[in-house]
Amino acid sequence: MRSRAAPPTARQRLVAFLEERTSFSVIFRALFMHQVPGFVNPLDYLGEATAFVFINQAVTGILLAMFYNASTTPVGHATAAYQSIQTIMTQVPLGWVLRGLHYWGANAMVVLVFAHMLRVFYVGAYKKPRELTWMFGVMLLGVVILFAFTGYLLPWDQQAYWATMVGTDMPSYVPFIGNWLLELARGGAWLSGATLTRFYAIHMLVLPLLLVGLLSVHLALVFRHGQSIAVEAEERGRRDERYRRTLVDFWPNTIAQMSVVVLVVALGLLLLTLLFKAPLLAPADPLNRAHYQPIPAWYFYSIYYVLDAVGRLFPMQAPILSPLVVIGLPLVGGIALLAMPWIDRSPSPEPAARPLFISGALVGVAALLVFTYLGNGLATGGVSNTVVARPSFAADIQPILSAKCYICHSGSSPSGGLDLTSYASAAKLHIWVPGNPQQSLLYEKITGAVPPRMPLGGPYLPPGAIQTIANWIKEGAPNN
Ligand code: HEC
Repeated sequence: MRSRAAPPTARQRLVAFLEERTSFSVIFRALFMHQVPGFVNPLDYLGEATAFVFINQAVTGILLAMFYNASTTPVGHATAAYQSIQTIMTQVPLGWVLRGLHYWGANAMVVLVFAHMLRVFYVGAYKKPRELTWMFGVMLLGVVILFAFTGYLLPWDQQAYWATMVGTDMPSYVPFIGNWLLELARGGAWLSGATLTRFYAIHMLVLPLLLVGLLSVHLALVFRHGQSIAVEAEERGRRDERYRRTLVDFWPNTIAQMSVVVLVVALGLLLLTLLFKAPLLAPADPLNRAHYQPIPAWYFYSIYYVLDAVGRLFPMQAPILSPLVVIGLPLVGGIALLAMPWIDRSPSPEPAARPLFISGALVGVAALLVFTYLGNGLATGGVSNTVVARPSFAADIQPILSAKCYICHSGSSPSGGLDLTSYASAAKLHIWVPGNPQQSLLYEKITGAVPPRMPLGGPYLPPGAIQTIANWIKEGAPNN
């Protein structure tokens, strides 16, 4: 006599319950249980890496929001916003790691979305039928930049304040409605608590909703067309036995490959966080314009540089050219990107079959990198970041001091009584011990070993300039 089947276990009952109501196994099979071509370039997983960093941003962002106070109410010499970031950095357990992950994640996000886009461009993956996937991706790039831009202001330190002053100046270049747009962005003519409230709301409510919405469509389309790759692969595999043997299972093999790329990105993020503390400069000082050179965030360096160059080369035409640079360039670039699937009409996605587009993109990326680098030079006040081994006072040290220190340390009553405009006047306060940088107040001040760090309020000297000054003291601080 046959024994009766054992009654279903609790787990089986749960699975059956869910299956009946959600058909999750059908969905799982549709998404994951298929075969894909075996060899995949790790660069094809940059999208997954970006998605991972987005999750990192969401989690760390929510945790940071539990401690952050988006208020410009004065607290001591700073504001409540600044103080709350300082509390996160110094008192909240592992708060500095939390903020580091969010800070480096934000930078990684801009880089990864851009790299992901370049990869997709290179392999021509925006071609039919993926035009919409691409367009939603381009919109996501815009959202990521807005995320970075609005987040930049929140610490309300000098860098945040003045970078956002530069950034919110951009809309004012729009013809006719420029000033209206500028006041809309700032919540007034000037950067104030109203701006902070506005940026916080956009950063915490508008952009997350926008991003999740756009990302859902983007991912749905990615899955939809991933499906068509699988179908094609299966069909070709049926005809071609050798090809069929090169196919791999999406689950778990491809997922495992993706996980490796994601793990590398996660480790990189953690390493950056632990090695380079997220900066917090002096509290924002809206009245201190003369004492702080406003610099934009790094992803605006290229525009900043071109704008500066146009102003220097064509001062007379600047009123017409500047709006073209600040508004026209990003606008044309954005529209060209959106329309790329229709601009590049070559039938083959192969890079070799699209020499014009590949070389055009190369020139564009090269220009972007070079202008970003040059813009960084402008941002650090024209101070070189190259290390001079045996510096001369006149040729190497004085230019740094004049660019970064004279605004406070010169004139009839220099700050701290320290006049840095000549060797003799600087030497009077014994701010260096020849041969010994570590014992020299000058070195201690520019590294922050003795607070407050100089230049007061930041931006601080680039590492190369600090090393050059150290080398000069090591050489005996000669007056040469
Ligand atoms: C925004 C204004 C400002 C800038 C820019 C600035 N400093 Fe200062 N610095 C001060 C003030 C104010 C003091 C005095 C108060 C203090 O030490 O906290 C000071 C003090 C110092 C002292 C200590 C003097 C002493 O005898 O105690 C040194 C050294 C110094 N600065 C070096 C520099 C150098 C080098 C630079 C440029 C790389 C620079 N500072 C840029 C405002 C500035």
